[in-house]
Amino acid sequence: ADSFEINRSGHLAIGGVDALELAQKYGTPLIAYDVSKIKAKIKHFKQAFIDAQIPYRVVYASKAFSAMAMYQLIAEEGLGCDVVSGGELFTALKGGMPPERIEFHGNNKLPAELEMAVDAGIGCIVVDNFQEITFLDTILRAKQATMDVILRVAPGIEAETHKYISTGQENSKFGFDVHSGQAEKALKILIENPRMRVKGIHCHIGSQIFAAKGFVMAVATMVSLLNEWHEKYAFEAEVLNLGGGFGTRYVEQDEPLAPETFAAEIIAAVKKNVHTYGLKMPAIWIEPGRSLVGEAAATLYTVGSRKDVEGVCHFVSVDGGMGDNIRPALYQAKYEAWLASRPHALQEQIVTVVGKYCESGDILVRDVPLPITHAGDILAIPSTGAYGYTMASNYNRNPRPAVVFCENGTAKLIIRRETYADMLACDLGM
Ligand code: LLP
Repeated sequence: ADSFEINRSGHLAIGGVDALELAQKYGTPLIAYDVSKIKAKIKHFKQAFIDAQIPYRVVYASKAFSAMAMYQLIAEEGLGCDVVSGGELFTALKGGMPPERIEFHGNNKLPAELEMAVDAGIGCIVVDNFQEITFLDTILRAKQATMDVILRVAPGIEAETHKYISTGQENSKFGFDVHSGQAEKALKILIENPRMRVKGIHCHIGSQIFAAKGFVMAVATMVSLLNEWHEKYAFEAEVLNLGGGFGTRYVEQDEPLAPETFAAEIIAAVKKNVHTYGLKMPAIWIEPGRSLVGEAAATLYTVGSRKDVEGVCHFVSVDGGMGDNIRPALYQAKYEAWLASRPHALQEQIVTVVGKYCESGDILVRDVPLPITHAGDILAIPSTGAYGYTMASNYNRNPRPAVVFCENGTAKLIIRRETYADMLACDLGM
């Protein structure tokens, strides 16, 4: 619990607010963000670019946590954001994100979604495939509009991460493959299209990456591609977008590079390669998602039942689970758990914290040391700020949790808890 605040009562606190008071006031499960931690991460990413005096944009990958308040915060902090659906775009616009700072990603953007993006006048669309170019062209023609695009390529680099979240390899469903010549073919089509302006190129090698190596390799591939295209087509990229995937700490043993180190390594690699080929320095864009929000939140749960079979199992059940955090079940993701009332008490037992869903795989944390717990105790699982709420479901007709933003000792409810009636809003009956 190093990254945790402990207040004068000896309780866990989040953004200066007592975790027990949060649970009392807003109920559980509750996802509580410490806003100052998000701001600190933003600052660290930016700092490396400011120090290097390089044109840049930090684009928040909003799939990690998408809520109106979050887009508002991101807008205020001067970042861009990436959206991957009409729903995220709608939320971003409602949250007050300036359209020109929005970029649109995805391997199967629907014509209706593309149209929405064109109508909103967003900053750019990251084109992913030939069908999308056709869809977009039809829309732009009909509206006599133009759009800035960034060409997404699959650079053929495998990041060392879980196979479900690695995306840069050749057999990925995302982007134009470089080696087979698809990417070049796409470039030619785009250059000849007067309605689309190619602003730059993009790659994303994967997620929860701890080291700079993969990014440095990606930079080399991307800049050599820029050089080839410069020679052949006099193409000059305004933007080199290197995607996101910067790892975060879920458990104490995790040791990802710091945001400023990731950024500095990327900047150095781009500078070096651009210099080698004598190219013009493009603006560097990065798309951090989890590294901005992951460590900033903890989820609070109330302990209910327990099951002990001596020598076999010790289960402590909480009032949430895979409906608010699918990551352990889906990616075998590891977390810690802390007793909010006495985080520093002697850890007298090793238990498995399970949820309330009707699945044996509904395990939040395996074999975690905790003090003896009782029904009604509040457990905190840290580092749940990314891909928790956004991947939440109503499985077993459990309502989705509430979310609070905490800062300087004050909590603000930014997403209210779902009600049973909310869940029936679309259910029309017979
Ligand atoms: N840019 C692109 C094009 C992406 O596809 C992603 C993530 C990001 C940026 C942000 O990656 P991040 O910095 O958050 O790692 N649900 C999975 C993660 C899926 C990530 C998909 N793309 C999880 O919970 O681990």
